[in-house]
Amino acid sequence: MSDRVYIFDTTLRDGEQSPGATMNLDEKIRMARQLETLGVDIIEAGFPIASQGDFESVRAIAAAVKEPQIAGLCRAVQKDIDRCWEAVKDAANPRIHTFLATSPIHMKHKLGKTPEQVLEMTEAAVKHAARFTSNVEFSAEDASRSDWDFLVKVSETAISAGATTVNIPDTVGYTQPHEYYELIRYLLENVKNSHKAVFSVHCHNDLGLAVANTLAALRAGARQAEVTVSGIGERAGNAALEEVVMAINTRQDQYEVHTNIDTEQLFPSCRRLSQIIGQPIPPYKPIVGPNAFAHESGVHQDGVIKNRLTYEIMTPESIGRTGTEIVIGKHSGSHAIRKKVEELGYSLDDDQLAVLFDAVKDLADKKEQVFDEDVEALILEKVYRRRDKFRLKDMSVFSGAGDVPPHAAMVLEFGSVGDESDVRTMSAFGEGCVDAVFRSIYSLVGVTPKLVKYSVNAVTEGSDALAGVAVRIEHGGVSSVGRANDGDVVKASALAMVNALNRLEKAKEER
Ligand code: KIV
Ligand code: ZN
Repeated sequence: MSDRVYIFDTTLRDGEQSPGATMNLDEKIRMARQLETLGVDIIEAGFPIASQGDFESVRAIAAAVKEPQIAGLCRAVQKDIDRCWEAVKDAANPRIHTFLATSPIHMKHKLGKTPEQVLEMTEAAVKHAARFTSNVEFSAEDASRSDWDFLVKVSETAISAGATTVNIPDTVGYTQPHEYYELIRYLLENVKNSHKAVFSVHCHNDLGLAVANTLAALRAGARQAEVTVSGIGERAGNAALEEVVMAINTRQDQYEVHTNIDTEQLFPSCRRLSQIIGQPIPPYKPIVGPNAFAHESGVHQDGVIKNRLTYEIMTPESIGRTGTEIVIGKHSGSHAIRKKVEELGYSLDDDQLAVLFDAVKDLADKKEQVFDEDVEALILEKVYRRRDKFRLKDMSVFSGAGDVPPHAAMVLEFGSVGDESDVRTMSAFGEGCVDAVFRSIYSLVGVTPKLVKYSVNAVTEGSDALAGVAVRIEHGGVSSVGRANDGDVVKASALAMVNALNRLEKAKEER
């Protein structure tokens, strides 16, 4: 058996189904490029039949990314498969990933099909997909709650029909490591044509076992792991890519397998995702969390000073945590900024670099030290948001109490940058400064959404740190997330709300 494990990243499909992790087209492309740099083998770019937006983003990722295979997900029915192929066919190496439920509960209550009908559908779907490409993956949804001998039949049928990868998902995060290990061994030993396909695993984290189950399955002989960056995904999430990869690397003695992942890109990938979805990496997150390499107790610190290996099983450098380096100062030239942008993995044209250069200079005037995270935040803020329908131009806010409530005056610019833009002003009182800001913005944009979530985090360290604000709003049955970073919390809140309203507009248009 080969010792190569294929990393199938589904951050842009299963991960994006995580609440608050919706990404727009540009964001998905940026994340896909980072996944390419990271070295994943397959990117699951989306579910093309789900919406026009999903279809377009799968197509755009297929065009933008050349190294990894690009997979699209589809149900095991012809029209889904056709749509999926349309979306992935121009990729350098396209894959159709079709799925069908095999557990008694799903077959009876969700599909209303008998096991015989499910076998027929499996065969028909895989044969149909195999007319387009020889790179076909079949997933037996809810496999971990399916009858093992039925799974043997389903796998044999899928492989005979042309599937080259067979995925055995733990869809509801129900299985246990020893049980999953035995299931994978059972399938590899009893599926007659198992040698003609790669067996894959896909684990959800409902019982906190997604990574453990994935590793158990790899030990049993599975050779594809379906994972997401930082473990984002439906409900409690999916198996975290960085945890699976570092477990394999750190415990080579146990796994004796290898991946194509450049581990020094793990931290930059998690940071990129966190910037895009506006959710900070949780403090206790293994490998990439802010506390993952922090030694607080005296005994530990003493040990680490004497020899790092006393309390560290891997180095921060091995996953690309180089510390909070000061990168840019007041006197840095455009060359240094261009170099930093490339190092962070972004590709900006000259105009975009000029915008960023001004923004970095501005920040360096206000802030003692400018870190990588600051530069990334500015790229998102100042470069990628220029095409928004409305943008914050000016604002002034007064706090207040008693008979003088907080008050905000906001100036928004409508139309795209470079157009004859339309500038409008509005002011409002509110319960607090942020409330006054939001009320003024709602009046200007003509939409009063429901504010579902509002959160503030420090992006970097110190009292002059950038504040990262995320808001989630709902209006007319559509929800949207907005994020922004700024040295001023109230301004970051305004920018995040403007961003959420722009994304709401786009989501409504896409719908
Ligand atoms: O969890 C699951 O079963 C899935 C399949 C579609 C692979 O996401
Ligand atoms: Zn899943």
